[in-house]
Amino acid sequence: MAARKLAAGNWKMNGTRAALAEIDQILTEAQPGCDLLICPPATLIHAVATKGIPTGGQDCHANPSGAHTGDIAADQLRDAGASHVILGHSERRTDHAETDAAVAAKAVAAHQAGLIAVICVGETEAQRDAGETLDVIAAQLAGSVPDCATAANTVLAYEPVWAIGTGRTPTNEQIAEVHALMRDRLSARFADGADMTLLYGGSVKPGNAADIFAIPHVNGALVGGASLKASDFSPIIAALA
Ligand code: G3P
Repeated sequence: MAARKLAAGNWKMNGTRAALAEIDQILTEAQPGCDLLICPPATLIHAVATKGIPTGGQDCHANPSGAHTGDIAADQLRDAGASHVILGHSERRTDHAETDAAVAAKAVAAHQAGLIAVICVGETEAQRDAGETLDVIAAQLAGSVPDCATAANTVLAYEPVWAIGTGRTPTNEQIAEVHALMRDRLSARFADGADMTLLYGGSVKPGNAADIFAIPHVNGALVGGASLKASDFSPIIAALA
């Protein structure tokens, strides 16, 4: 099996029920040549899933249930209609002090609940400037991706922290270098690592999507701001499909 192509939208803490009209529009315009995924706020997971588009959470707890006010268990996401969950996004790592080990524990919980984990890695600008990017990515992969990961239950997303929401993107060469490293490390560790879907995320827009999708080992995108409007996300999907 070859890595599947995936256009994923991360709505972050954006959107109320009024935004569901964007899903209808995306479904009207979507090309059949790639997988789609929308990760809305938890309040919209059931409504988005009901529309028949693959739906993901943006985080889950490592425990299956218990006294964890404000958190969501993987099984609850599944029950609401989710098929995926984003884990280890840099905003979670920063805002909630999530470590690689915590991300890996959440990924195990996601897999046990039957969810596909979309695990994010990425360097800060200071780390890139210090020449540490490849070491940082390798360490995050080693620590955040659990041993139970397979091409069927795990997607990796390279999201340089400095490119998120900034309108700045790495050069194609920089993306290619990181994705090649990810493919190498995953292939060395997992029997089907060559088939794992690898996404790029960080200021993907209709205008740069086709160039990014042409980079070796880039199998799609995890899109933030440009996934909120069908008029932006549909052209990105079309560029991949
Ligand atoms: O998870 C997606 C993300 O962090 C990228 O956000 O707004 O730069 O596309 P954005």
